Amino acid sequence: MAVRIVAHRGESLIAPENTLESFTLAWARGAVCIEGDFHLSKDGEIICMHDDNPLRTCGVDRPVSAMTLAEIKALDAGVRKDEVWKYTRVPTLREVLETMPEYGEIYIELKSVGPIVDALKAVFASGPWRPEQLTFIAFDEATICEVKKLFPAHKAYWLTCNWTGDWQNHGEAELSPKELAAKLQELGVDGVDICATDFLTREYGDALHAANLGFHVWTVDDPAQAKRMVEIGVDSITTNRAKVIATELQLI
Ligand code: G3P
Ligand code: CA
Repeated sequence: MAVRIVAHRGESLIAPENTLESFTLAWARGAVCIEGDFHLSKDGEIICMHDDNPLRTCGVDRPVSAMTLAEIKALDAGVRKDEVWKYTRVPTLREVLETMPEYGEIYIELKSVGPIVDALKAVFASGPWRPEQLTFIAFDEATICEVKKLFPAHKAYWLTCNWTGDWQNHGEAELSPKELAAKLQELGVDGVDICATDFLTREYGDALHAANLGFHVWTVDDPAQAKRMVEIGVDSITTNRAKVIATELQLI
């Protein structure tokens, strides 16, 4: 099966990340799958934003969990971009899903479970989306385990960096291919969505696929690195340059 290209936060190098403008542009440029980050507002709406505070993207310093949907809708997600993106709004999950074409898919990154679960059920029940279109991803082990148990018909991938050390110094791989496969089976999830590093090899793809687990990588913006990821057997590549990477891999 052809590798799937996932538009990270939409066409986020062009439009403001995690906005309807960014996702709509991604679909228009040929995306088959998008990725977005989600939090719960004070009044129980699932909204699309990466950080738990809108400071970086909207210039307002306040926790999302302390804001109502009306207050979040008053934010401008375009303030850090060119003038043309002024007054770009922060969307809800429902609004993001409504941009999806029938063939489209989304990776829904959850920062936590708990109260968000009922809100997820309500959103999913209100639209025509099929479970196979809606995949969950999360870094937190308890979150990804729990969401898979609560939504067994949906795919759930554990997000990990799989390295020792910090962002500046990646150190070494924390889990070997076999250890990673065993860990995913223990978590009860469908696969891994792993940071693309030099120490990812074909052995990871082989060990995961032998255990019937998915092998997904983020965030790959360099076509040469994307080609190497294909060679080692990944199932999807999450990128900020969806059209460029899909074109380089001759997928569109
Ligand atoms: O696709 C996974 C990736 O989005 C995880 O990192 O920080 O961009 O949410 P982050
Ligand atoms: Ca994300």
